[in-house]
Amino acid sequence: MLEILIFSFVLACYMVFVEPRWFKVKRVRIQTKKKLPKPITILHLSDTHFSGRKSYKDKFFEKLAQEFESDFVVVTGDIIDCNEGIEQAAHLLGNLRARFGKFLVLGNHDYYDYHFFDNVNYHLRGVRTSIRVNNVQKFVEVLKAKGIRVLRDNNHKIDLDGASVYVIGTEDPVTRTVNFQKTLKDVPSNSFNIMLTHVIDSIIKMPEAYVDLVFSGHTHGGQIRFPWIGGFMYGFDMPRKYLEGIHTWKESILCVSRGIGASRFTALRFFCRPEAILMEVVPE
Ligand SMILES: [Fe+2]
Repeated sequence: MLEILIFSFVLACYMVFVEPRWFKVKRVRIQTKKKLPKPITILHLSDTHFSGRKSYKDKFFEKLAQEFESDFVVVTGDIIDCNEGIEQAAHLLGNLRARFGKFLVLGNHDYYDYHFFDNVNYHLRGVRTSIRVNNVQKFVEVLKAKGIRVLRDNNHKIDLDGASVYVIGTEDPVTRTVNFQKTLKDVPSNSFNIMLTHVIDSIIKMPEAYVDLVFSGHTHGGQIRFPWIGGFMYGFDMPRKYLEGIHTWKESILCVSRGIGASRFTALRFFCRPEAILMEVVPE
């Protein structure tokens, strides 16, 4: 009996104090048939859930800012957990270096300050909102002032030595309705097209198949994963393997991040280390 208690205590300490702080930079290489003058690098970050408290996540961001200068930084939502995280998020994201731009889409936690019972309602009853709302307008303005482009059902074209790259971003698919027609407006099929969307199952409703690469987060990889089985998540409309990792879907390559943080009320992890993803895209 004592052994079981000690084991449970050690396991709980590991899930709360060790693994959520054990960050990694996952390196991925993919190929594309689209025209690119040279390989491009993309740093993908998601689900930081900043709450204003200086923490181990700040140090990880400082390390990313020092060690990496990628072509693009893409951020797929749940960047703040509450209004207190706005300045912290803008400061840490603002320090990151990207040659062709930093792009961000919003997630449900950017809109709502979910407390513990909101999280319970979310996962058990499918209630997607909270009575506590964040100041999204201020958040977007502060990000813009730091040179971060916030995409909300629109896209942005970048010229890359004669080739075109479009970065396309949806509104938060969890608490808003994505207007794909608006999001994909004027995006040609022959350019290299990158989409950012907070949760990957939103692409089920995407009418066109000419998005080459989709980045997303939200799932936190399931947060608690079981060896050989993987993670679970309520209300996710794709097979469980899409909770994290690199996959293909029709003509697109999908990159689903386990994220860097989690809600401040449920911040535990098991077999699911927090991650930033550094992707290299190489023309064939
Ligand atoms: Fe999240």
